[in-house]
Amino acid sequence: MLKTVDYDQRQHTVYAQGRAIAPQVTLAWMEVFARHLPRRRPLELIDLGSGSGRFAPALADAFGGPVRGVEPSAGMRGLAEASAAHPQVAYLEGDAARIPLPDASADGVLMFLSYHHVPDRAAAAVEIARVLKPGGRLLIRSTFADTMPQLWWHQFFPSARRIELEMFPSVAEVAAAFTPVGLMRVAFDSLEERFAGNAAEMAARLRLRAISTFEHIGEAEIEAGFARLDAYVAADDGVQPIVGRSDLLVLG
Ligand SMILES: C[S@@+](CC[C@H](N)C(=O)[O-])C[C@H]1O[C@@H](n2cnc3c(N)ncnc32)[C@H](O)[C@@H]1O
Repeated sequence: MLKTVDYDQRQHTVYAQGRAIAPQVTLAWMEVFARHLPRRRPLELIDLGSGSGRFAPALADAFGGPVRGVEPSAGMRGLAEASAAHPQVAYLEGDAARIPLPDASADGVLMFLSYHHVPDRAAAAVEIARVLKPGGRLLIRSTFADTMPQLWWHQFFPSARRIELEMFPSVAEVAAAFTPVGLMRVAFDSLEERFAGNAAEMAARLRLRAISTFEHIGEAEIEAGFARLDAYVAADDGVQPIVGRSDLLVLG
């Protein structure tokens, strides 16, 4: 059993820099979300586990309505308030099992890389079903144990893939958690995501360890992994972007 990652300890100090996302990638995600959210505009959305606010302002711009970012970590909420303020966005204290919003108040709930952090998934399912309007959609961007892509950076850290297989539930497990509240799988989508312009840029980001998987890898392996990565970067021509498939499960 992996320990719980508390974003108030270290992650909030590195997340914004280590997980910065290019504007064109944000827009590409908005296009993916638009394929699955209700067609009417504006939409009222909840960004559940909104972190540093990487997506909330773009959601408000793309879908024209209010966005509530719900986030348990005070450090991450502080980052969002400082760097991702938007007139249509409010960041609220809460978590997936405790959403501080009324019944049937959201056309969509986005969980972008937050579902695997939720300890009480049955309680979260009840809460998410409660806040969704009829016909609303739950978008879960995650890695799933049974569809896990080969991620470029895993080659340098031998236990990363095994840890992520333990960390991330399968698509069937996620779907099963929502069956009791009447939310069913309606789609599975993917984006070929550009994570960095080249290996050197990716290595600089990885060094910040703003990926929670690093919290479960021993220091000796981390050190050896970065030595391998440095050797790779030294031999690299610097022109190949680092890309990978990112999956999205849609329930409704
Ligand atoms: C990898 S970050 C993703 C943040 C943001 N969605 C993004 O993509 O930038 C995971 C976030 O989930 C939050 N989180 C942890 N436990 C949670 C829970 N039980 N309910 C909702 N969010 C949670 C963490 O505090 C953290 O901000």
